[in-house]
Parts: sequence; structure tokens; C-alpha cells
Amino acid sequence: SRSAAVPHWSRLIRDVPDFPRPGIVFKDITPVLADAAAFAGAIDASAGAWRAAPPDAVAGIEARGFILGAALARELGCGFVPVRKPGKLPGTTLFEEYALEYGRDRLELHADALPAGARVLVVDDVLATGGTLRAAVALLRRQGARVCGAQVLVELSMLRGRDRWDDPAPLHAALAL
Ligand code: PRP
Repeated sequence: SRSAAVPHWSRLIRDVPDFPRPGIVFKDITPVLADAAAFAGAIDASAGAWRAAPPDAVAGIEARGFILGAALARELGCGFVPVRKPGKLPGTTLFEEYALEYGRDRLELHADALPAGARVLVVDDVLATGGTLRAAVALLRRQGARVCGAQVLVELSMLRGRDRWDDPAPLHAALAL
């Protein structure tokens, strides 16, 4: 049946209308995280593409990319590096600016976060337009890392983030909505 193809953990993703702004339907993954079996299933599904050749580190994007990225790093047996919103990292940082629907935002990374040439997997919860993920990849490359791929839990297909992913590193989504 059709429903059998839907992973059990994905049923706990909750639609929240008009968040963070009117007209936006927010995909809330907190119920997935709160359920032990669902959380394990989501991490297992996210790890699948990378088990054969695990990265040296996972880089997780603030904020929900920290939760999934840290769990995925443990699952893959590698380290974790935070890619943060402005002003949060204590050491010397590099930054990358990127366009939002209105205005610009910025991601930061410790300048010494990874040894040169380290193979890094970039992780976030949701791929929407893809701007956040592309900025994180650019930032990691400038820091000297080799980006081996990107993993998101959920891809919002309607927003066409994958169409703008013109990168040789593979992008995987555990679920496409
Ligand atoms: C969300 C999500 C991704 C990003 C995806 O983060 O967690 O990081 O948007 O959007 P994009 O593909 O269009 O760039 P949000 O802005 O809600 O920040 P938060 O994780 O700090 O709440």
C-alpha cells in the first residue's frame, strides 16, 4: 500500500500554520525528537547514504541541525562542528552572508573548526529554498574543508531547493514532502 512507504517517524512531523509568519506552514519536527523510536528511525534514515564512507566530521546548522547533526555524528562515529548564527561562537570566526526572502542573514564557523582537507557532511533539518545549506557549504570550503555531501531530514519539494543545488557534492533528504 501507499502508506507502507511512508516512514513511521515522518508521521510525527507536525504542520503549524502561520509560523513564523502568516501564510507559512511550518514543519515542526519536535514530536519526532520526543519519541525514542521515531528519533532513532529519523537518524537511521539520515545515516544510510553515508555509512559506506563516513565523513571525518558532521557540520550541523543552528538550531535544529545541531540536534540531528550531533546524533548523526555519533551514529557515523565522527566529530561534530557547529555552524552558527551571528555572534554565538567564542573563537575567531569566518562568516558567509546569504539572501533571505526579505533581507540577508549570516552563518559563522570557527576559523580552526576543522583540519585542512577534512571530509565534512553538512546537516540541517529542512531544505526549503536551499540558501542556508549553500551558504554553509561555501563557508566550510573557505575554511579548507572538503564537503562530501549534505543531508537533510526533510526536503520541501515545492520550494525547489534541489533545483538550485548546482554542487558536485550529493544532497540527500530522508523524506521529501
Ligand atoms: C530553517 C531550517 C533551515 C532553513 C531552511 O531555519 O532549519 O536551517 O530554515 O531554509 P532555506 O532552505 O530556505 O534556507 P530557521 O531560519 O527557521 O532558523 P532556526 O533553525 O534557527 O530556527
